[in-house]
Amino acid sequence: MLSGSPSRSGVFQAASDKRLEAFGESISFDHRLYRQDVRGSIAHARMLSKQGMLTSDEFEQIEAALRVIESEIEQGKMPFRHELEDIHMHIESALIERLGDVGRKLHTARSRNDQVNTDLRLWIRDELDHMDQLLKSLQLAFLSRCERDADVVLPAYTHLQRAQPVLAAHYWLAYIEKYQRDRERLADCRRRVNVCGLGSAACAGTTLPIDRDMTASELGFERVAANSLDVSSDRDFVLETAFVLAMIAEHLSGWAEEWILWSTVEYSFIRLPQKFCTGSSIMPHKVNPDTLELTRGKSARVLGNLNTLLVLVKGLPLAYNRDLQEDKPPLFDSFDTVQACLELAIPIVAESELQIESINSRLDQGFLDATTLMEHLIQQGIPQRTAHHLVGQLVGLAQKGCVRLADLSEEQLKSTHASLNLSLRDVLGVEKAVKAYQSYGSSNPDQVRMQMNRWRQQLQ
Ligand code: ARG
Repeated sequence: MLSGSPSRSGVFQAASDKRLEAFGESISFDHRLYRQDVRGSIAHARMLSKQGMLTSDEFEQIEAALRVIESEIEQGKMPFRHELEDIHMHIESALIERLGDVGRKLHTARSRNDQVNTDLRLWIRDELDHMDQLLKSLQLAFLSRCERDADVVLPAYTHLQRAQPVLAAHYWLAYIEKYQRDRERLADCRRRVNVCGLGSAACAGTTLPIDRDMTASELGFERVAANSLDVSSDRDFVLETAFVLAMIAEHLSGWAEEWILWSTVEYSFIRLPQKFCTGSSIMPHKVNPDTLELTRGKSARVLGNLNTLLVLVKGLPLAYNRDLQEDKPPLFDSFDTVQACLELAIPIVAESELQIESINSRLDQGFLDATTLMEHLIQQGIPQRTAHHLVGQLVGLAQKGCVRLADLSEEQLKSTHASLNLSLRDVLGVEKAVKAYQSYGSSNPDQVRMQMNRWRQQLQ
């Protein structure tokens, strides 16, 4: 036998070139699938034994040896070699080394094409569950802020211009909603991940009498994939996962940007925990929000990974093509990156402090109560367009005099519209404006309280 990869059959007259081995190896990254590979192999062997393709003694030897191999890999005792290409061949070779011909039977009715698809699905399934837990912890961190910041009013912005006043809790609930949608996407994606391709073999199925339902249920899959050509080529589940991760990264990045702004002197809304900030080597006063900047920056990688995957599979004919081996580095990187971001976002959300005095001292700026005033005029019977125009005029007067709307004189009000008078002051000011909201989903304190209760029930 020629040395080199066990996938080189008797047809080969030449050993593989070392440069191909180095170029083509995936063990340097797909070693992360070793647990899933062992699990899939044991399920496959159990099925082969039930179907009479292994004796029960052979199955027991295989199972025991695979468990030993798994623990050796876990302890870093298995040397990885390029000539064995990937984790699947490393484990199979180690099995054959131990068991000889019995080990040589494991790959019956199986190809690395369905094997890699299955291992990856098992791996992603676990990671999706872990990601869901992290997102839930982040939601809980925001929810506990809702209690802590219950009395704080913040400006809401559109176009990054002061718009209307909202409770701080309304902000935190907004983020809880976004991460809930991410969790729903994870769960939905998981349904399509949780399908068993094992038994599709290389691309056309097998002539051997396998039981695919048994393997699928051994591995906890919900369904058996119905077309072997599809399985051999399918990476939809990888792309979909990468998209869900990209969406989470987008949400984290937007939040990070917001809190970076809020932590500036210009805003002075929030104090970030110093243990997540860095200093400057030359400017002694600096406390920089690097963790948030990196969260924003690392999202670029996650978006790039999605793009890499989309381009990778574009235009591939059926069925397996070796290009598909390149799916793992971007997928793994997206999981690692988003997970690392979440692990820091959770304590930052929980431990940052709103700068309440600084926030309150400027709530009178920016006419946050102008829209409430307009809606008050509408309730007095003035048509919306007219009320909109009138309040615009009042804001103009207030801007000229550098005063709040509540400081305008009776004459100024009357000069704008005969029916306006000082009673308007009863509805002005951010506190009153917040209480005046009525609609479902608004920042009305009762609405916010109701949403907080709903989330407390849902998350705890
Ligand atoms: N290392 C390969 C990968 O990860 C395994 C599949 C190889 N299949 C094949 N027909 N060469 O994609």
